[in-house]
Amino acid sequence: MNHPLKNKRALVTGGSRGIGAAIVKRLAADGADVAFTYASSPGRASETAQAAQAFGVKAIAIQSDSADANAVVAAVERTVSELGGIDILINNAGVLALGPIDDFKLEDFDRTIAINVRAVFVATQAAVRHMKEGGRIINIGSCNAERMPFQGGGVYAMSKSALQGLVQGFARDLGARGITINNVQPGPINTEMNPEQGEFAEMLKKQFMAVPRYGTVEEVAAMVAYLAGPDAGYVTGASLTIDGGFNA
Ligand SMILES: NC(=O)c1ccc[n+]([C@@H]2O[C@H](COP(=O)([O-])OP(=O)(O)OC[C@H]3O[C@@H](n4cnc5c(N)ncnc54)[C@H](OP(=O)(O)O)[C@@H]3O)[C@@H](O)[C@H]2O)c1
Repeated sequence: MNHPLKNKRALVTGGSRGIGAAIVKRLAADGADVAFTYASSPGRASETAQAAQAFGVKAIAIQSDSADANAVVAAVERTVSELGGIDILINNAGVLALGPIDDFKLEDFDRTIAINVRAVFVATQAAVRHMKEGGRIINIGSCNAERMPFQGGGVYAMSKSALQGLVQGFARDLGARGITINNVQPGPINTEMNPEQGEFAEMLKKQFMAVPRYGTVEEVAAMVAYLAGPDAGYVTGASLTIDGGFNA
């Protein structure tokens, strides 16, 4: 078996379900020890930890709400103390609040920014204090950073566009230290946040997709694994789209 991430230590935010859980399992399959956070699904977190441990690596689930900056820093520190360091940070935890401009609530705006943007900054700042040369930071953005073709998604799109500027700027801070930082921008991916069945999904597939299907969580995890691995040392400050042609 090929283990390109052997001896690496990773933290994935929001790893109990969906894209995050697939990333936890893929990094474990590639040989990394993995910590991951969750907010409210201890049962799902425990299942994901067990699936990762089956690859013969350490896997730990940490309850940590990304809306709470102190809890985000604590998750990074716990990763460092339990895994012996941190080489890879995946900022995946995110929320989707859709609603028309006239009714959009300030509390939904603030929560979106706290989880989708502020937590990415907080975790990144805490992690780079410990990261050595070869470190990797990967955010899960969205194709909606570049194209939002339906109503009600302005705040979500803004939160993901913010990550484009963040990786461009921090690539400059971190490049000379041998640490890369990038966004992976998925299109529609079959998860509880965006199920592949239903009226909304059929509309997306028909009107917007070049490849007329939803992506799988494993397809996103494969792009993350490439960026986390030794072949991607010259990729930084980039926002890489994996969207079945949604933005084409
Ligand atoms: N699915 C798509 O079509 C799609 C497309 C583009 C981008 N994305 C992005 O991909 C990322 C993952 O999305 P997904 O589809 O996998 O979502 P999901 O199925 O809703 O899963 C979200 C994951 O994030 C965790 N999470 C949510 N809020 C959290 C918080 N406040 N603190 C810590 N963890 C939290 C959840 O933990 P609990 O189980 O504890 O709630 C869960 O593990 C998000 O950033 C999303 O914006 C998704």
